[in-house]
Amino acid sequence: MARFASLLALVAVLLGMPVVACAADDVTTNDVTADDVARGKALAERLCATCHLGPGQGEKRSPSEIPGFRAVAKRPGQSLHGIVGWLKGVPPMMPNHRLTQDEMFLIATYILSLKDED
Ligand code: HEC
Repeated sequence: MARFASLLALVAVLLGMPVVACAADDVTTNDVTADDVARGKALAERLCATCHLGPGQGEKRSPSEIPGFRAVAKRPGQSLHGIVGWLKGVPPMMPNHRLTQDEMFLIATYILSLKDED
């Protein structure tokens, strides 16, 4: 039984490893600068504004609505990883902007910067 338990632990470690390695390869939150926010903003205004940056646009209240970026930023537990993950998934309800990983990072940084605005 003890042997079975340690085998389980080993399996857990092995399964865990690729996940950790993947997260490390992913975006890092270090070195976010005001310039990143500005570049992300420029991209968002060009590519996403018609759907996500309407004046006063808030959280979606029905399934067919689109959330404003500030509402997306204010969601509990929202993170850079969460937003980049959404964009990487190329969601079918959004145009495929063929963003590079850098662009996803910059836009997500910009979106999160809206969190503290009213
Ligand atoms: C043609 C309209 C359209 C454009 C342009 C668009 N989106 Fe969206 N986006 C949507 C819709 C619709 C949803 C809501 C999907 C849902 O809730 O089912 C959404 C949802 C999102 C969400 C929230 C996901 C969540 O967790 O609920 C994020 C983040 C997002 N879009 C980012 C972007 C970014 C970044 C761009 C520009 C690069 C962009 N979108 C361009 C239509 C658009």
